[in-house]
Amino acid sequence: MIWMRAGGSADVDRIREIAALSEGAAQWPSDEYEKLFATEGVQARTVLLVEQDGKVQGFLIGRCVDLEWEIENIAVNPAVQRHGLGTLLLKEFLRSVRTRHGTNVFLEVRESNRAARLLYEKAGFVEAGRRKDYYHQPDEDAMVLKFSFSR
Ligand SMILES: CC(C)(COP(=O)(O)OP(=O)(O)OC[C@H]1O[C@@H](n2cnc3c(N)ncnc32)[C@H](O)[C@@H]1OP(=O)(O)O)[C@@H](O)C(=O)NCCC(=O)NCCS
Repeated sequence: MIWMRAGGSADVDRIREIAALSEGAAQWPSDEYEKLFATEGVQARTVLLVEQDGKVQGFLIGRCVDLEWEIENIAVNPAVQRHGLGTLLLKEFLRSVRTRHGTNVFLEVRESNRAARLLYEKAGFVEAGRRKDYYHQPDEDAMVLKFSFSR
């Protein structure tokens, strides 16, 4: 059974584990994950989890500045990728941003990250710009993608 829910501080270890397994996910310093659930960030952050048969298999972390949102990180356990879980996370996130009257969602993605680019493209994201040499090891441009809500 597939289930979606909001993440909490008890999920930090599993989120960290999935991020470490997932090439292409943003790799944050370990303590960044604890800060996700610090009280001061509660209003501005959304952490969504997808569970399959009772085990967390993917997460999405989004952040809000005014009415604009950013997807900071998304990853699905490589053992269960390509089974639609990334799409579920993304669609649920967009649904929740729409409910909160968000206007746009932005994100950065490596140009070579074909899987993620296709995921976003299928969900309706379009290219909005580029950041030169944004990524390192290896050096690569970021594509900035944008999803706009039409009301
Ligand atoms: C990107 C990611 C979250 C997608 O999660 P997922 O659960 O595998 O995605 P879905 O199964 O919902 O796939 C949706 C679409 O994305 C594309 N896609 C996903 N994985 C792909 C792959 N390995 N190769 C090519 N296309 C792929 C396909 O178009 C797919 O639709 P389809 O299966 O009907 O063809 C996952 O690959 C991942 O965790 N990658 C590592 C972390 C990462 O790169 N994060 C993005 C940072 S910007």
